[in-house]
Amino acid sequence: MTAGRGAWITLEGGDGSGKTTQSNLLADWLADAGHTVVRTREPGGSEVGQLIRDIVLHHRGDIAPRAEALLYAADRAHHVATVVRPALERGEIVLQDRYLDSSVAYQGAGRVLDGTEIRDLSLWAAEGALPDLTLLLDLDPAAARRRLDSADKPFDRLEAEKAEFHGRVRDAYLALAAAEPERFLVLDATASVDDIAAQIRERVAALLD
Ligand code: TYD
Repeated sequence: MTAGRGAWITLEGGDGSGKTTQSNLLADWLADAGHTVVRTREPGGSEVGQLIRDIVLHHRGDIAPRAEALLYAADRAHHVATVVRPALERGEIVLQDRYLDSSVAYQGAGRVLDGTEIRDLSLWAAEGALPDLTLLLDLDPAAARRRLDSADKPFDRLEAEKAEFHGRVRDAYLALAAAEPERFLVLDATASVDDIAAQIRERVAALLD
């Protein structure tokens, strides 16, 4: 961990991979064990971030890929400075939906920008902060799409992208996890909710030990 004394856990994965379900279960488990948990997300984990979230997810019409990358990076810069670092410095556990791996996967691979440049941009924005643990819920994009369709919610700008986009996102996530096996735990999102939760708890228990 590069910031503070608490622990920082991020959840990553394609849309519809079950991040929210697992995040809820992990938060309850941590709270039951007596930890103070700060739940947050990108984009939109701060007041400024909410405004940026509204642009990147709901703007009608195109946003140039580099502008989109910078908007996510701006959200990240403000969020890490004002929410994540202070919580870690207070010794709390930050449980965060999405972080810079999302940018490398969606803006890098999805929008076909240079993944290394996108990662460097995010690291600059966040002054080098990296999570202690990143939980990657891996799911085939076709299965994810079926889940999203059955959820009957309107798609945001990223969710509405084509299957090839989401295929590139998935491949990029798996490549990131392979490059940093000590930071990532890759979970098969087709396993049962309970199975996945148990694997997560085992790894988080080891982290907090
Ligand atoms: P999310 O909050 O997970 O959406 P939802 O609330 O609908 O589950 O994420 C919003 C979208 O933003 C998601 O499609 C992925 C995308 N995203 C990026 O493209 N780059 C990023 O850096 C981040 C953090 C998210």
